[in-house]
Amino acid sequence: DASDIEKGTYPHFMLKEIDEQPFVMRNIINKYQNENGKLKLDDDIRKAMTDADRVYIVACGTSYHAGLVGKQLIENIAEIPVEVHIASEFVYNMPLLSKKPLFIFISQSGETADSRAVLVEIKKLGHKALTITNVPGSTLSREANYTLNLYAGPEIAVASTKAYTAQIAVLAILAVDSAHAKGIELDFNPMQELAIVANAMETLCNQKEQMENIAREYLAVSRNCFFIGRSADFYVCLEGALKLKEISYIQAEGFAGGELKHGTIALIEEGTPVIALATQEHVNLSIRGNVKEVAARGAYTCIISMDGMQDEEDRIVLPAVHEYLTPLVSVLPLQLISYYAALHRDCDVDKPRNLAKSVTVE
Ligand code: G6P
Repeated sequence: DASDIEKGTYPHFMLKEIDEQPFVMRNIINKYQNENGKLKLDDDIRKAMTDADRVYIVACGTSYHAGLVGKQLIENIAEIPVEVHIASEFVYNMPLLSKKPLFIFISQSGETADSRAVLVEIKKLGHKALTITNVPGSTLSREANYTLNLYAGPEIAVASTKAYTAQIAVLAILAVDSAHAKGIELDFNPMQELAIVANAMETLCNQKEQMENIAREYLAVSRNCFFIGRSADFYVCLEGALKLKEISYIQAEGFAGGELKHGTIALIEEGTPVIALATQEHVNLSIRGNVKEVAARGAYTCIISMDGMQDEEDRIVLPAVHEYLTPLVSVLPLQLISYYAALHRDCDVDKPRNLAKSVTVE
């Protein structure tokens, strides 16, 4: 049928969409810069960002996880305070808002009912909203004041992959644009750095065998799996765990490395798979310490690090990218490991049980 044609030679949409990520990065670079290589964003959006005393990111699922990375980017690059909220919580438990809030809705589909419910509420209060979406004519895009497109192309697999990385790339561009408008001196050219990311993604897409081996070795029969990381790596761990849960039905959780000792480490048994991300220089020693702690209690550990920070025992060493953009490459092996884990466990990769691609009911 038509969908088989779109899949081309790929066995699943998810694998196709993982592989498309380098192209999506390059597409975003092209769409968001003008002929002179300058960032191309609406003046209205720039003004909304610089007028805001606080940004509220509202989203669900994978888009929420991209929002967590976005918070770090906007705070570090544009120096605007950011809160990130799960839409379904925000709507019934609204935080105290700042005087001049700007809302950013992140939604691949632009149709998620939980997010829309928040948009309706904040519009009643007279606040402005920007939607970052893959579907320009979608409800959230039409009903918000401003829209930024992801240009990721249709995402068909229920488990979101290329939309997540596109969301982070667009948030980085938005943060830099706001920083420029505020006159903040930056030692960071997002387009150059995203081009490096695209190449790094390509390298990883050519290492599928390695990811498949890890999936087979660690996840073929396990009941559970933990992902640990610190700082930006922690946010990617949350996304890695969600991917694995969604498509392989393995109970998976992402934890902050330092929080393990406050409870979670009780879950570690002989052979429990623990995948650790170590791409953040300033916490490299502490996350490696956490890996030793779980290994000492029997965990079967797998370290994914970054060039320049690696150690002999690491299973995957990611090509180095700018520290702001590490989530764009560290998520890729996690996506692939989840894919192969699901495949080996005979799960329906593109259409996992109980899940829908876009959830239009609250
Ligand atoms: C559904 C999908 C998730 C997605 C979430 C938010 O639950 O299964 O993959 O992350 O909705 O979707 P959105 O379109 O708003 O990004």
